[in-house]
Amino acid sequence: MSDNLVIETRDLTKAYGKFTAVKNLNLRITEGEVFGLLGPNGAGKTTTILMLMGFCEPTSGSVRIAGYDPAREPVKVKRVVGYMPERIGFYDDLTARENLEYTGRLNGLGGSLLKSRIAELIETVGLKDRADQPVGKYSHGMKQRLGIADVMIKQPRIAIFDEPTSGIDPEGTDQVLNLVRAMAMQKVTVIISSHQLHQLQKVCTGVGIFSRGQIIASGPVDKLGREALRKGNYNIILPIAQLADRVRSEISRIPGVFSIDSIADSTIVSADEDVSAELERVVLEITGLKVQMKVEEFELEEIYMKYFEGSSI
Ligand SMILES: Nc1ncnc2c1ncn2[C@@H]1O[C@H](COP(=O)(O)OP(=O)(O)OP(=O)(O)O)[C@@H](O)[C@H]1O
Ligand SMILES: [Mg+2]
Repeated sequence: MSDNLVIETRDLTKAYGKFTAVKNLNLRITEGEVFGLLGPNGAGKTTTILMLMGFCEPTSGSVRIAGYDPAREPVKVKRVVGYMPERIGFYDDLTARENLEYTGRLNGLGGSLLKSRIAELIETVGLKDRADQPVGKYSHGMKQRLGIADVMIKQPRIAIFDEPTSGIDPEGTDQVLNLVRAMAMQKVTVIISSHQLHQLQKVCTGVGIFSRGQIIASGPVDKLGREALRKGNYNIILPIAQLADRVRSEISRIPGVFSIDSIADSTIVSADEDVSAELERVVLEITGLKVQMKVEEFELEEIYMKYFEGSSI
């Protein structure tokens, strides 16, 4: 495993009888990445997560997570990997604070350090006013928030969230995403499974699209967008309606450029690589103007739809 590769699966496969839920999965996730797992219901996201955690034994293939094999060293994996399951279970008759205390103790924490960490986390996830009520009286969204705190309490190196924002109100969703961002800033590697593509796009450095147990596309959203929607090409947008002939002809000479189109008040240069720096140089040289170029961006939602158009799961 290379230095900062923290999760790696090799031909990871899980079969339930004749049905294969995950097929030859090869995942490579590096430290500090926020990796999104997406795909239709039943595509294999949760099964993959369970194998990463050592909760479910692979039929074949292997997993390496934080340097451990979860099939052989599940306890060590759980020490450094925080996991929030799809359906979180807490002790209903204990309060949020007591539940967190319980998790903290299981992870070898105690005393005033644990108490202050719990107080801080309760505040962070927005449960301060309800922290001393039994969790049995919590709404679904409040339990999700407590689930996030439960993952964070042991300050994991890797955090895996299975649909952490399902059932949370918009403000709560934003707060959860901010927490995920804050974790990533501290070099925590995050895996997050979700159907909320717009939200996922805001935090993920990369995503993997699952379909019927396989990852059919993976990487940063801009790369996936180019592959799915632009045949791998780059569109670079110049905020200029009409280019002078000389500028136009110089641009067309840049290696890789294959079309220049005027659309509304901009010009779109299409190329088979990112020529934005070269474009900027050419425009500056001829016109003396430093023009801001923008490489076209994509909506994860649109990319996803492209992969699944016309399919029933
Ligand atoms: N214990 C099990 N026994 C048999 N089949 C199972 C079992 N667990 C999961 N499966 C099947 O494996 C497939 C993948 O399920 P999984 O829970 O991984 O999907 P998912 O991508 O997480 O879906 P969702 O978006 O609905 O959470 C499904 O077809 C599911 O029915
Ligand atoms: Mg699932």
